[in-house]
Amino acid sequence: MAVTKDKTSDEWYFDENEYILSETDDKGLIIYANDLFCEMAGYKLDELLGEPHNIVRHAEMPRIAFQGLWDDIQSKGFWTGIVKNRRKDGGFYWVHATAMRKIAKDGKTTYLSVRRVPRRMDVNSCISLYAELRDKE
Ligand SMILES: Cc1cc2nc3c(=O)[nH]c(=O)nc-3n(C[C@H](O)[C@H](O)[C@H](O)COP(=O)(O)O)c2cc1C
Repeated sequence: MAVTKDKTSDEWYFDENEYILSETDDKGLIIYANDLFCEMAGYKLDELLGEPHNIVRHAEMPRIAFQGLWDDIQSKGFWTGIVKNRRKDGGFYWVHATAMRKIAKDGKTTYLSVRRVPRRMDVNSCISLYAELRDKE
């Protein structure tokens, strides 16, 4: 598990073959995060458990992106997109995220997210798209 920081900016990277994983309860509070989530976000696991996912929300993410996430999860059961996340130390990292709803046999709902390294061209498109969307907020 190699986590690295860009030499000239506050951007952090992880490996192509690694996945940042998390699970929340039905209220959206984190009940599981893997080691890579902790490393990339810069938190210890016990600082994350019981917290909402917006603990890693970056101010440059437009509100409408997360509206879309929750709308799609409720209507289709999943959402996929490019997200800029904020680290505890103020740094940031981009992910290609797939978030989904899981309904167990007993009706208990949880939410899962699997995040992989995004394509750079997708990150570059999102940098300008998200700036435009934020300007409209
Ligand atoms: C499974 C799942 C994973 C999520 N992962 C992230 C994430 O990595 N970063 C993030 O900013 N929001 C994530 N969210 C969305 C947050 O719950 C929240 O809607 C978002 O951070 C916006 O925060 P706000 O509602 O306080 O504006 C996730 C939601 C779900 C259901």
